[in-house]
Parts: sequence; C-alpha cells; structure tokens
Amino acid sequence: MHKIKQPKLISVLIISFLTLYILYKTFIYSPVIFGLRDDFKEAVPFQAIPSGLSGIRAGDCGACHAEIYEEWKVSYHAKAFVDPFFQAFWRKDNKIWVCLNCHAPLVNQQPWVIKGLEGGNIARPVKESNPEYDSEFQREGITCAACHVRNGIIIGPYEDSKAPHPTKYDPRFRTTEICYTCHQVPGGPFQFYNGGPCATYFEFEDNPYAGKGYTCQTCHMPRAIRPDAAGGPAREVGRHLWMGGHFPEMVKKAIEVNVEQDREKYKPGDTARFTLTFTNKGAGHKIPTGDPDRFFTVRFSMTDGRGGIIKEKTYTIGRWILWWPAIIEVYENRVPPLQNKIYTFEYRVPEDVAEGRHLVAEVTYHIMTDRMHRKLKRKYGLASEDGYSFVVYSKDVPLKMGD
Ligand code: HEC
Ligand code: HEC
Ligand code: HEC
Ligand code: HEC
Ligand code: HEC
Repeated sequence: MHKIKQPKLISVLIISFLTLYILYKTFIYSPVIFGLRDDFKEAVPFQAIPSGLSGIRAGDCGACHAEIYEEWKVSYHAKAFVDPFFQAFWRKDNKIWVCLNCHAPLVNQQPWVIKGLEGGNIARPVKESNPEYDSEFQREGITCAACHVRNGIIIGPYEDSKAPHPTKYDPRFRTTEICYTCHQVPGGPFQFYNGGPCATYFEFEDNPYAGKGYTCQTCHMPRAIRPDAAGGPAREVGRHLWMGGHFPEMVKKAIEVNVEQDREKYKPGDTARFTLTFTNKGAGHKIPTGDPDRFFTVRFSMTDGRGGIIKEKTYTIGRWILWWPAIIEVYENRVPPLQNKIYTFEYRVPEDVAEGRHLVAEVTYHIMTDRMHRKLKRKYGLASEDGYSFVVYSKDVPLKMGD
C-alpha cells in the first residue's frame, strides 16, 4: 500500500508546481519591467522626406539648424540607441522590440514592423521585416524627426516661421506633453511601483514648479536668444541640451548640501556630531528620478589625515524594488522638489590621540550599482569605460582640538 501512494504524491506535487508555473508565466511574468500605453505601444509611423529637404537625418537638419544640431549631438537623446548602457540592458532583455519605441522611435529606424501582439502579449509580437529600415538612422536614437516630422510636415513651436520646408504649429512643444510620452513609463499588470518604473512626469505634476508655470523645457532646454536657423530672425529658442544624470554639472544644479558640526573644538573623550543636509534645490521632480537604478550615496569618513579611514558611514537615497517573483516597490526615500533630508554621523574622540583627524563628507550620484555594472560587463558585453558614478559634493572638515 505504502509503495503505491508515494508516486501519487510526487505526481500531485509536480502537477501543482507546473500549474503554478504556467499561471505565473501566463498572468504574472512579464519580459519587461513596464506596461504598454497607447502613445508608445506603436512606433512613430514611417516618415517620408518633407518637400524642400534632401533628407530627414539629423545632419540634414543640421545644415541650417547648426547650433541645435551641435547641442542635440552631445545629448543622451542622440545617444539613446548607441548608449553602451542601453545596448547592454537591451541584450539582457533579449533585444525585445518595444524598447526601440522610445530609444529609436521612428519606423524608419526599426528593422521590423510590428503588426500586432498575439493575445496582447508583449513577448509575442507579430513581426514583419521592414523594407524602409535605415540602420544608420537607427544609430541617431531620438533624432530630430522623432519629435519634429509628421506627415511630410515639420511641426514646431512657432506660428509665424518662414522656412524652406512646410511647417505647422503644434502647441505641445511648449508643454510637458511632448516629454510625457517617453518620460512617464507606467507599470504593467502585477507590477507594484510607487508611480511607475520611470515616473518623472508624475513627480513633476502638482509640485511647486508646475504651479509656477515651469515645464520640463524650462530647465532641460534653457532659453537663448539667437536665430534658430541660418538666415532666420533672432528668437527666444530652447537649447536642445536635455542634460541629466550623465552630466555631473547638471546633478550639481539639483542639489544643495550643507555640513555642520555640533561644536567648534573637541576634547579627548568628546563625541563629535555632524549633520549633512541634502536639499533638492533645483530639480522639478524627485532626485534621483527616471530609471529605477539611479541612486545617491551620502558618505561620512573620519580620516587620520594621512589617507587612512578610521570610521565610516554610508546612506543611500533611492528606491528598493523586489524584482522577482513579482515587481514590488518596497521602499523609497528619494527627495521631492524643495525638500530636504538630514543625515548624521558621530565620532568619539579617543583619549590618547586626536590631532590631525578630518571628517570627509561626500555625495555621489550613481547611474547604477557597482554590482550591476560588473554584471553588464561579464554577461552582456558592456565594453565602454563610460563613467557611471560621479562625486557631486565633497567637503573636508579638520577636527579641531582645544577648549
Ligand atoms: C525630444 C524631442 C525633440 C528632439 C529630438 C528635437 N527637438 Fe527641436 N524642439 C523640441 C521642443 C520641445 C522645442 C520647443 C522648445 C521650447 O521653446 O521650449 C523644439 C524647438 C525647435 C526649434 C525652434 C527653435 C527652438 O530651439 O526653440 C527648432 C528649429 C528645432 N527644434 C529643430 C530641431 C532639430 C534640428 C533637431 C535635431 C538636431 C531637434 N529639433 C530635435 C523638441 C525636440
Ligand atoms: C535649408 C535650410 C533648412 C533645413 C535643411 C531645415 N530647416 Fe528647419 N527651418 C529653416 C528655417 C529658415 C526656419 C524658419 C526659422 C524662423 O522662422 O525662425 C526653419 C524652421 C524650423 C522649425 C520651426 C518650425 C515652426 O514653425 O515651429 C523647426 C522645428 C525646424 N525648422 C526643424 C527642422 C528639421 C527637423 C529639419 C530636418 C528634417 C529641418 N528643420 C531642416 C531652415 C531649414
Ligand atoms: C521618444 C521618446 C522621448 C521623448 C519624446 C523625450 N525623451 Fe528624454 N529621454 C528618452 C530616453 C530613451 C532617454 C535615455 C537615453 C539614454 O540614456 O540612453 C532620455 C533621456 C533624457 C534625459 C536624461 C539625460 C541624461 O543626461 O541622463 C533628460 C533630462 C530628458 N530625456 C529630458 C527630456 C525632455 C525635457 C523631453 C521633452 C522636451 C524629453 N526628454 C522627451 C526618451 C525621450
Ligand atoms: C526646476 C528645474 C527642472 C524641471 C522643471 C525639470 N527638471 Fe528634470 N532635472 C533637473 C535637474 C537639475 C536634474 C539633475 C538631477 C538628476 O539627474 O537627478 C534633472 C534630471 C532629470 C533627468 C535625469 C534622470 C537620470 O536618471 O539621469 C530626467 C530624465 C529629467 N530630469 C526629466 C525631466 C522631465 C521629463 C521633466 C518634466 C516633467 C523635468 N525633468 C522637469 C531639473 C528640472
Ligand atoms: C516608454 C518609453 C521607454 C521604453 C519603452 C523604454 N525606455 Fe529605456 N528609457 C526611457 C527614458 C525616458 C529613459 C531616461 C530615464 C533616465 O535617464 O533615468 C530611459 C533610460 C534607459 C536606460 C538608462 C540609460 C543610461 O545611460 O543610463 C536604459 C539602460 C534603458 N532605458 C533600457 C531600456 C530597455 C532595455 C528597454 C526595453 C526593455 C527600454 N529601455 C524601454 C524610456 C523608455
């Protein structure tokens, strides 16, 4: 009797495990960490060359819009496809089609045309090869035409331009709507984020900057007075810079850091107390924002003045997300606009020695963790030495002794 029961139990276990696995794969698992929304579910339709122009590559536009072209070229919009971090993560996600709808959004830039999704499943696209695919154009990532060319017309922010190409005024260029499409990435079913994997618009809405009439462009496309095209009139234009976390000088604009100590001088046996106030002084959304891998660290180190570290403490500002078996954002402590966080450090001055000690307080911005960076190198072909963390604040406070 006993011998017959045993295999039955095993098959019941196997069947329940398989059922659970199939249910998990069908209903919970997603090959991507976000959900779809109508405005980026499909690529931007194929765009032909508007009359009066010889092409729609950025270089073609740059022939007349030279300053804008030079600005765009160094931005991460221009690098959104060739960016080695994007390439490595894309490989990690098996080069799934949907990434390109934001990172190289025109049909002209994609090797395939997606005709639909079987059962609405992101993992099962109905793909056809694309005869209009231009691989050089793909490398331009978020190129001029991604925002400005529709149906043979150049769309833009003016009502009165006189251009050698057809133009049409589109009020969205003066609002956050043009950024929303890509910068408000929603979570998918069974993904529990606080706002979405990348919810910069959501963080901006209802904050003091939105109330004062700021848009994303106010800070990310700062104003300049100049002709926007060779031979055109001087105008107030928006510089095409879009600087963010890849530019330490921009991150420095976001933060204000203040370090204080509880006393000016210490005696052996005293406990020295330090506080660091970290304020989001200049960003219209939380810091860090965007990609959930971003974070800041605040580090206090008591040093012996000769490079040796005696005591150290590190705090992290970011998001803690459980990625598996389901996506759940467990905790976050990012800093909303015009708010601050206070961090502390204590050090007991020893009885014997004390002169020459220094407190070093440092704030570092991280594009991703060291661990993730190593993994991308080891498994997903990341070869470039592009920086992925930057010290954005550093202060050295000598510990003074005396009465
Ligand atoms: C991510 C979308 C986006 C991309 C890519 C983009 N632009 Fe723009 N462009 C805008 C927005 C938004 C404005 C309006 C800025 C403002 O006034 O606030 C604008 C404005 C302009 C203007 C009017 C003058 C000005 O600067 O305000 C010209 C001309 C222009 N863009 C040309 C280009 C060219 C050429 C490229 C490629 C080299 C390009 N744009 C890439 C979004 C984009
Ligand atoms: C042969 C020169 C030339 C080329 C090439 C050219 N433009 Fe222009 N563009 C102009 C001029 C001139 C204006 C009008 C400037 C003004 O009125 O301030 C203009 C205006 C614009 C505007 C503002 C339109 C509006 O009404 O808001 C945008 C946006 C723009 N161009 C984008 C592009 C893009 C994108 C390309 C490439 C696909 C491109 N241009 C190629 C000369 C050119
Ligand atoms: C077609 C999709 C798309 C649109 C539209 C778009 N962005 Fe982006 N943006 C991206 C992607 C993708 C990246 C990340 C590129 C990368 O790092 O590889 C990015 C990166 C950025 C960055 C960070 C750059 C850095 O240094 O890390 C800023 C800032 C930014 N965008 C601002 C804007 C603003 C402001 C607008 C509206 C005027 C806008 N974007 C419109 C897709 C878009
Ligand atoms: C008051 C100025 C201000 C406004 C308004 C603003 N930003 Fe920013 N933004 C900043 C500063 C400063 C930084 C640099 C800090 C950082 O990278 O965390 C930044 C960083 C970013 C980044 C880079 C994040 C990363 O991971 O590297 C993105 C993307 C971005 N902003 C998009 C937007 C969008 C989209 C809007 C509009 C909904 C917007 N910003 C409105 C000032 C602003
Ligand atoms: C809805 C638009 C959208 C889609 C779809 C999308 N991204 Fe992005 N991606 C963005 C935006 C916006 C940023 C910039 C946010 C920031 O800088 O923090 C970004 C940034 C990134 C970055 C950071 C780049 C850097 O230099 O640090 C990586 C990596 C990335 N995306 C990979 C992917 C992959 C892989 C996919 C597909 C699985 C994907 N993205 C799909 C909009 C999108």
